[in-house]
Amino acid sequence: MVLFTRLLPITAGLICSAAAAIQETARVVPGAYIVELADDHDVTAFYNNLGSSKVHVKQRMKLEYSLFKGTSFQLNNLTTAETTAEQIANLSMVKRMWPVRVYSVPKDEVVWKGSDKNIADAALRRRRAPNGNDTFSPHVMTQVNQLRAEGVTGEGIRIAVIDTGVDYDHPALGGCFGDGCLVSYGTDLVGDNYTGFNTPVPDDDPDDQCEGHGSHVAGIIAAQTNGFGFTGAAPGVTLGAYRVFGCGGSAGNDVLIAAYNQAYDDGSDIITASIGGASGWSEDPWAVAVQRIVEAGVPCTVSAGNDGEAGIFYASTAANGKRVTAIASVDNTESPLFLLNGTYSTANSPSADSFGWTPGAPDNWGNVSLPLWAVNYDTTDPANGCDPYPADTPNLSGYIVLIRRGTCTFVQKATNAAAFGAKRILFYNNIAGVISISAPVDGILGVGTVTAEQGAEWISLLSTNTTVIVNIIDPDSAPTYLDSETNTLTGGFLSDYTSWGPTWEVDVKPQLAAPGGNILSTYPLELGGYAVLSGTSMACPLAAAVFALIGEVRGSLDPAELENLLSATSNPNLFNDGTATYPFLAPVAQQGSGLIQAYDAAYSTTLLSVSSLSFNDTDHFAGTLNFTIDNLGSEDVTYSLANVVAATAYTLDPNSIFPSLFPNELVPTAGADLAFSSDKVTVPADSSAIITVTVSPPAGLAASRLPVYSGYITLNSTSGESLSLPYLGVVGSLHNATVLDTAGTYLSQSSDPALNPVPANTTFTLPATNGSDANTTYPAVVIDLALGSRLVRADVIPQSANSSSPKEVLGVQTLGNIFGFPQTYVPRGQAGSSWDGRLADGSLVPAGTYSILVRALKLFGDETKEDEFEAAETVVFGIKYS
Ligand SMILES: *[C@@H]1O[C@H](CO)[C@@H](O)[C@H](O)[C@H]1NC(C)=O
Ligand SMILES: *[C@@H]1O[C@H](CO)[C@@H](O)[C@H](O)[C@H]1NC(C)=O
Ligand SMILES: *[C@@H]1O[C@H](CO)[C@@H](O)[C@H](O)[C@H]1NC(C)=O
Ligand SMILES: *[C@@H]1O[C@H](CO)[C@@H](O)[C@H](O)[C@H]1NC(C)=O
Ligand SMILES: *[C@@H]1O[C@H](CO)[C@@H](O)[C@H](O)[C@H]1NC(C)=O
Ligand SMILES: *[C@@H]1O[C@H](CO)[C@@H](O)[C@H](O)[C@H]1NC(C)=O
Ligand SMILES: *[C@@H]1O[C@H](CO)[C@@H](O)[C@H](O)[C@H]1NC(C)=O
Ligand SMILES: *[C@@H]1O[C@H](CO)[C@@H](O)[C@H](O)[C@H]1NC(C)=O
Ligand SMILES: *[C@@H]1O[C@H](CO)[C@@H](O)[C@H](O)[C@H]1NC(C)=O
Ligand SMILES: *[C@@H]1O[C@H](CO)[C@@H](O)[C@H](O)[C@H]1NC(C)=O
Repeated sequence: MVLFTRLLPITAGLICSAAAAIQETARVVPGAYIVELADDHDVTAFYNNLGSSKVHVKQRMKLEYSLFKGTSFQLNNLTTAETTAEQIANLSMVKRMWPVRVYSVPKDEVVWKGSDKNIADAALRRRRAPNGNDTFSPHVMTQVNQLRAEGVTGEGIRIAVIDTGVDYDHPALGGCFGDGCLVSYGTDLVGDNYTGFNTPVPDDDPDDQCEGHGSHVAGIIAAQTNGFGFTGAAPGVTLGAYRVFGCGGSAGNDVLIAAYNQAYDDGSDIITASIGGASGWSEDPWAVAVQRIVEAGVPCTVSAGNDGEAGIFYASTAANGKRVTAIASVDNTESPLFLLNGTYSTANSPSADSFGWTPGAPDNWGNVSLPLWAVNYDTTDPANGCDPYPADTPNLSGYIVLIRRGTCTFVQKATNAAAFGAKRILFYNNIAGVISISAPVDGILGVGTVTAEQGAEWISLLSTNTTVIVNIIDPDSAPTYLDSETNTLTGGFLSDYTSWGPTWEVDVKPQLAAPGGNILSTYPLELGGYAVLSGTSMACPLAAAVFALIGEVRGSLDPAELENLLSATSNPNLFNDGTATYPFLAPVAQQGSGLIQAYDAAYSTTLLSVSSLSFNDTDHFAGTLNFTIDNLGSEDVTYSLANVVAATAYTLDPNSIFPSLFPNELVPTAGADLAFSSDKVTVPADSSAIITVTVSPPAGLAASRLPVYSGYITLNSTSGESLSLPYLGVVGSLHNATVLDTAGTYLSQSSDPALNPVPANTTFTLPATNGSDANTTYPAVVIDLALGSRLVRADVIPQSANSSSPKEVLGVQTLGNIFGFPQTYVPRGQAGSSWDGRLADGSLVPAGTYSILVRALKLFGDETKEDEFEAAETVVFGIKYS
């Protein structure tokens, strides 16, 4: 959730609304651009040209690579930025130009972090694999263990990790950097002080200084044997570490484009990035840059995104690039638990029983023995402790308050307890496992979490008026032990946070799924050395490692071949919404091909020519598609084809222009019919056959709600293989769907963090000098896109005669776009942009009265036609200058 604190002129920020997107979209850096130069021009010539035209810029990144020649720069004079930018874009040596956008470090859930120092050895020994058998559950789930049993480790394959750097000092990450080390190459493209907005200061040391994300990702790929008894999936590979985040900041897409291209030029065989931001547009520059690298023969895996909550059609960039392999997340079947050992006793059972718990923040527990107290004894209470406690609640300072997780925030729950003097709180979980939570609330000294089972046991004792005394040793000195719990609720199913495709142009996204929920891996030594994290960030590196394993077995690292093999051999799974499993397959828009199966892919003797099929929407209906079956084996094989439908997902809520939040309404019984050129085909050894597929989309659905149907073409072979090819399509017209929420598009003001509408005829007094001023209240235009739009204009419409002469643009008399507009390839969601009176060409509008006409291009719309835009006009407001 992004808090909209203060609107700054120029910068577009984002707010959340019930129907709007969850994640902050990539912000644009004012006056910063990426240019790609035409083939026979170089960066020096480009800057010389600017210099001779007296355009003053500061270079951000040199982008001189074999697949991308250009640079990114910051214009010194923001006042004239848009005009200057337009001039630069028109230079013959400039092939393409894009604004710089920044992306945050992914918000993956930190389930646990800590060290292996106080680990009870007995507990560990259980987990150590006998005879080198790989029993690490993410590997068992994906058949990595079967390849490892044959000695396949990805030996010699170079995988580049684009992330926060890697803590290569970690013994499980090789302990050194450079030739002969596990992390043998890479660089720091940005330096510690880089925020995404300032100029990067590169150095050649890609150490993971301050984040941890990249060290976790690297361990999933290639961790060496360690005290916890696990390894990465491909411990024989060589890693390249490309650091693109400073300490606590974001990364610009120029840096990301540079990192990908540098990794390519350094000879990486596979490149992986667990980074992204809401988009849905394969035309995004970063996605285009990654696509180009895939087309040059290097597989690129990118995490699908952690915005499952936003529902269908919320693909993230660069995962949404064409040919880029987007990786969805599945929950681990085993939840690793790192617990502190506590004890408790009752009058009936005076000898202490032990229990496990995990501390949160704050964690100043001290050594205490206190009775438990709970506000009620209902272990199914969905919103336990969310309301203020009853007036007759005792003083809670001498108790440990026991509260069930759920509905409201931990801070809310802790605040209600603190109101009656509580100092210590144990939360019991409402799902499997325990998590480390944060509830910084005045008066609270310590918080922690126990399992749902432990909570239920205590509540049942309390409900019979039994006093339960809990003894806690302060987390600083309490013994830790490692346990694991089988995740019976969501293990093996798609993680509820995994982002859903497809793109706005109906490209199938995601491609593949891998375990990402509750994954144990390495962490910087400074932060304890090990951690359990959850996110598509954790699924993506496992997929990258599997590409290496399969590449080693097959002797090929061709991106399409590996993706197609993995897609065909994956296991699609049933739909699970985080609380229950349903008897139908999860939509392809959520799971892609399903959970990857490394062994089957490595040894498959059948190769399909595609990894998925998109039948597009009704307007662009691609009713007949084909694919090729390649029989690579030495015997003739007969394949039987069938169609297995997955649930159809409605995009829009009934009678609404907005996509539903997770989970979208699913119609399990409505599926497409497929007709194949033949239902059974015999393909001779070492030859191929083309299969033509004709689709009849499901009937009886409300086309105006944009149902997305999907399923799998199954191919069972006489050689014993069973393959599946995902497909999807949309019933209805994306072009006819409403993209602009006119009610959510209005005028507000920069001083209002809640962005309430302002009344008509409000006059804003702005400074006549350029540059933003925090003390000025600027008009702010709030734009709510129900669906994505390729082009959004914000035209200034004069409402009184003034010295400027408007021009007609798309049928409207306008002074032009406000500064920062038009915006291209915009994701769905609500965003506010404040306006300091400047037009896109940098000039200030004269004092006067105006409205702003927001126009968003329809999906698949023609930007040259007025009626292809949807419009909403703000109230009239006045501009004066002080
Ligand atoms: C920026 O350009 C404008 C218009 O040419 C000019 O008035 C202003 O002085 C410039 N600002 C700076 C800091 O150079
Ligand atoms: C490896 O461990 C798995 C899971 O415990 C077991 O099913 C399998 O038989 C073991 N394989 C070998 C070769 O020990
Ligand atoms: C980073 O910023 C701090 C504080 O502004 C400064 O002291 C330090 O020198 C900077 N480090 C680098 C490498 O530029
Ligand atoms: C936890 O502490 C109790 C009591 O000291 C002890 O009996 C038990 O073995 C400990 N459990 C673990 C897993 O360390
Ligand atoms: C627990 O104590 C309360 C108040 O003393 C009493 O009303 C209630 O019946 C008792 N419950 C049980 C299960 O003994
Ligand atoms: C759907 O059709 C449109 C219009 O022809 C096209 O631009 C788009 O790429 C198509 N989508 C796919 C996945 O082929
Ligand atoms: C298969 O599809 C391709 C591309 O869509 C098309 O060019 C080709 O003619 C089709 N082949 C057959 C046999 O239908
Ligand atoms: C293919 O095999 C699977 C699993 O054995 C089975 O469920 C399915 O019905 C088979 N499909 C065909 C077309 O034979
Ligand atoms: C889209 O709208 C146009 C104009 O109203 C209509 O003719 C067309 O049938 C619609 N398309 C779909 C697929 O509903
Ligand atoms: C705003 O001003 C115009 C012109 O003076 C007037 O017609 C209109 O009623 C005013 N609107 C409001 C809401 O005060």
